[in-house]
Amino acid sequence: MNPPLRVAVTGAAGQIGYSLLFRLASGAMFGPDQPVILQLIEAPIEKALKALEGVAMELDDCAFPLLKGIIQTSDPAVGFKDANWCLLVGAKPRGPGMERADLLKDNGRIFISQGQIIDAVAAADARVAVVGNPANTNCMIAASQAKRLPADRFTAMVRLDQNRAQSQLARKAGVDLTGVQNIFIYGNHSPTMFPAFAHATIGGKPATTVIADTAWLHGPFCETVGKRGAAIIAARGASSAASAANALVDHVRSLVTPGVIHSVAVKSNGHYGFDANVWAGMPVRTTTPGSYEAITSYAMDDFAKSKLAATNKELIEERAFIADLIK
Ligand code: NAD
Ligand code: LMR
Repeated sequence: MNPPLRVAVTGAAGQIGYSLLFRLASGAMFGPDQPVILQLIEAPIEKALKALEGVAMELDDCAFPLLKGIIQTSDPAVGFKDANWCLLVGAKPRGPGMERADLLKDNGRIFISQGQIIDAVAAADARVAVVGNPANTNCMIAASQAKRLPADRFTAMVRLDQNRAQSQLARKAGVDLTGVQNIFIYGNHSPTMFPAFAHATIGGKPATTVIADTAWLHGPFCETVGKRGAAIIAARGASSAASAANALVDHVRSLVTPGVIHSVAVKSNGHYGFDANVWAGMPVRTTTPGSYEAITSYAMDDFAKSKLAATNKELIEERAFIADLIK
């Protein structure tokens, strides 16, 4: 057995937290040989902390062999102390009629202080995964506060969008989900995101050959994936939670598994024409556990280029909107 990993989770008593923690403690995220200590962080609100106590009791009652300890706290300096992974879920979710960017001013502040505290107290090898919306820009905000941890340690989640896109392509083609490969998400976790269908394969053939309906790929496919979060809010009355938790398990699992190619929002460094200082979804290959390299070799046609330009513009606008926060 390896020594336990310390995994800090914010928003631990929230909707996503409730779907996430049990899978994390069961080994789904870090594997069956990796014990964990959960460092659960909630807002300093009586109701949230009481709910967190209940979640911790349930974790105890699962008797997970890999779970070696639980810390419950509203103090981020305690919760992030020596953490190897910081999963930043805690933030306000949007309601019906809102865009994720409407959360920027409220949620952005959270990521300023969490970025500073993680940088000060987390483990030397700390990795950060941001889920709280708007995830790309919140990740950029947290990374902007770090002096010790390099920018590539900060990632935001677009894996839910990749999973959604894979599912939509499989349904349209009438094939098993596992037949759909190489569908990657570019740009913002927002309706402007671009699921790059031209690089996807279905049963080993180009998706654009198997699905000859180009109008569907350009229109309803991109729109369904981009607006799936809003469709779930409209149907459920609350934002996606179980599928988001599942995507975070996938995001981290893929990031600790060398060789896997998957969609992650990372500091763009100018790849695919993105502004160098925005966090944009793109395919990355995990190199060593927790580290990755961007895959920059995919060619983009004119349609793809216009989509990339639109999502880049939105990321730049979001950054401009909170520029006063990150000064
Ligand atoms: P929720 O309201 O059920 O839970 C959020 C929890 O965070 C609450 O318990 C709250 O008390 C806590 N919290 C708030 N501020 C905090 C802080 N400063 N420190 C620690 N905890 C804090 O919301 P949810 O459904 O779990 O969603 C959480 C976030 O994830 C939202 O912003 C939502 O929009 C986002 N989300 C992102 C994706 C994605 O794909 N990136 C998918 C789904 C949801
Ligand atoms: C999602 O994509 O389901 C989440 O980002 C929640 C939302 O606000 O859409």
